[in-house]
This record gives sequence, structure tokens and C-alpha cells, in this order.
Amino acid sequence: MVQATSSRSSSPRIVVFGAGSVGCYVGGRLISGGANVVMIGRARIGQTLKKHPLVVTDYQSFEFQTQLTPEQFTEDPAQVAEADLVLVTVKSAATTEAALTLARHLKPGTPVISLQNGISNAEELRQHLPNARVCAGMIPFNVVQKSPGHFHHGTEGHLMAERDDSLDAFLPLFELCGLPLELRDDMKSVMWSKLLLNLNNPINALSNVPLLEELSDRSYRRCLAAAQRETLSLMGHAGIDTIKLTAIPMRLVPVVMSLPDWLFKRLASRMLAIDPIARSSMWEDLEAGRPTEVDWINGEVVRLAETLNKSAPVNRRLTELVHECEKTRRRWPGDELLAELRAALRKANS
Ligand SMILES: NC(=O)c1ccc[n+]([C@@H]2O[C@H](COP(=O)([O-])OP(=O)(O)OC[C@H]3O[C@@H](n4cnc5c(N)ncnc54)[C@H](OP(=O)(O)O)[C@@H]3O)[C@@H](O)[C@H]2O)c1
Repeated sequence: MVQATSSRSSSPRIVVFGAGSVGCYVGGRLISGGANVVMIGRARIGQTLKKHPLVVTDYQSFEFQTQLTPEQFTEDPAQVAEADLVLVTVKSAATTEAALTLARHLKPGTPVISLQNGISNAEELRQHLPNARVCAGMIPFNVVQKSPGHFHHGTEGHLMAERDDSLDAFLPLFELCGLPLELRDDMKSVMWSKLLLNLNNPINALSNVPLLEELSDRSYRRCLAAAQRETLSLMGHAGIDTIKLTAIPMRLVPVVMSLPDWLFKRLASRMLAIDPIARSSMWEDLEAGRPTEVDWINGEVVRLAETLNKSAPVNRRLTELVHECEKTRRRWPGDELLAELRAALRKANS
């Protein structure tokens, strides 16, 4: 088990705004390397972290445990005033509220990284924080809360963020903490490539089965392939490149997804190396009755289509079905969902 390197109050203060799965993992990982971290979160998670130590683990056997002090976890957003760097880790539906809160407290010029899924969160933050240095970020790996206070990083990949001079000074610290942060000039491609993978979130949510079971079913994979193909085509029209985030180049992912089960299992065994009970966070949101991020995942594709004067019937229908499911709880067997998406496609093309 890793022992925390002692943090010095003179070291830059990193504020994690929205301490949930990602925020607690990233915050804990930074604390493990001695960073001066303040996590801002809700009372519910604060209570959990009073009763239980914060434990962060990863798929490569990293393990760190600490009892957070009242200075390290707070519900008080005013603590963001002393931040030298802010990592925003709220879900997309909470971005506007987070931005308005940050705007009340943040020092001018503070770098802010949106470590959120979707495309438009950084822009939303930027609009409300014109004096901050807002950078889009991307977190490729999955984090789950395995037990109260225990946050586990389950898949490979490292953090990426938009290149900005203000972030250079933090790079050695992130590296030291085992959380390398790569600065990129092609963040639009990075984020759209991640979104292509996130298109599975609504399908998993609608399937109501674990990811492993869903991805083992060709009908669900064909639903995903249809949503990805539509998105790739629109990205092509918009001049947005893909980057490689999986073993398979992104443009080939829909082809692999459409393969018969026996061939898919043989060729894409790494994609099926998933904890058998893992599900998407959109499924968790539906179960908990929380608003989902579907408008910031499939909804982004629909908005891209509109800007190009084109349509995105598959992603539009998936968005509608998730919103219906938020109200009715209706879930979809793979063959019925595929038929529904194909019908939407036929209607759009007729
Ligand atoms: N989990 C993953 O594996 C993963 C991987 C890659 C990317 N992401 C992305 O990362 C982002 C965060 O996901 P997550 O899974 O960490 O979500 P999460 O577990 O719901 O964590 C977000 C936390 O922020 C809190 N929050 C919201 N508004 C707040 C505010 N104004 N002040 C203080 N706390 C606030 C939320 O509390 P309430 O719910 O009570 O509002 C929640 O506890 C999402 O965009 C997600 O898509 C997640």
C-alpha cells in the first residue's frame, strides 16, 4: 500500500469540484503523491468519508488509503477561492450550477480543467468564467465506487487536456502521483473519439443488463455500431478527426461491433475483459432516478447534425428512449432496440 508523501501548504492547491467517483479517485490519487488537494462535494459523500477512509485502487494493483481531514473534504464552495488549479468533475447536468458557483469565488486567471464526458462542458464553463483559463479535459478510464469510500480505476488510459501554458507547472506533480496528464492540441478529436465510445452508455442503460452481457449480444452491438457509424459520418462532414483510444482504430470499431458473436469474442477479447457486474453510469443514474447525461452524449451528435443541416436519427431516437425510460423505466431487449433504431433510420431516409 502506498503511503502519502507529506503535502506542503506552500505547494499549489488543487481543488476538485464535485467529489463523486471521478473526483474522489483523482483527488485521492493526487493526495497519494503529496499534492495539496481540497475536494468539494455534497454532504452525503462527506458523511461517507467521515465514516470510512478514502481508498483509491487501480487495475495495476495500486492501493492507497487515507482519512481525509476537514480541510481536504468540504461542502464549502468558497474554498475554491484559494485554488491554483480547479478540476471540475460534476456530471454534465450540473455544469451550469458549478460554473455559477465557481464564478462567485475563483481568482482571475485560475486554470480550470473540465474532466467530464461530452463535448460542450468546457465551453459552458468558459461562458460563465471569462476570467479563468478553462481547458477541456478527457478521462478515458472507468472509475467505480466498489464500497463506501473505495474508488477503483478499472481500465487503461491516461488523462488528457487542452494545451495551455498555465498547466505546464502541474505536469510533474500529476506524473509523480501516477496520474499522467497529456496536453493536446487536438482536443476536439480527443473528445469526439471518447464520445464514440460513450455512445454505448445509453444502450447499456436501456438494456438493463451488465456491460459484459450487453456487449456479448450482437443486437446491442449493432445498435452501438449504428450510433457510431452515424457519428463518424457527421464527424467526417465536420472535418473532425478521430484519435486511437482503443486497440482498434476508431473508424473500425463499428465494423468490429457488427461481427457475429463467435468472431467478435475472438477478435475483441480485450473489449470483453470487463468486470461481470460493471454497468454504465447512465444505467446507475436511471436506477437512482437522477437526470442522465444523454443530452451531452447522443444529444451532442444531434446538435452536430443540426449545425451541418443533416440529421442523426439513430442518436436522436436513443436520446428520446433514454428520456422516456427516465419516466417509464421501459427497458429494451437487443432485437427490439435494434428494430426501433432501424425504423428511425428508415423513416429519416424515406
Ligand atoms: N465514473 C466514470 O467512470 C467516468 C469515467 C470517465 C468520465 N466520467 C465523466 O466524469 C464526470 C463525473 O462523473 P462521476 O461518475 O464522477 O459522477 P458522480 O459520481 O455523480 O460525481 C459527481 C459529484 O459531484 C457532485 N456535485 C454536483 N454538483 C455539485 C456542486 N455544485 N457542488 C458540489 N458537488 C456537486 C454530485 O453530487 P449530486 O449528485 O448530489 O449532485 C456528485 O457527488 C461525468 O461527466 C462523467 O461522464 C466518468
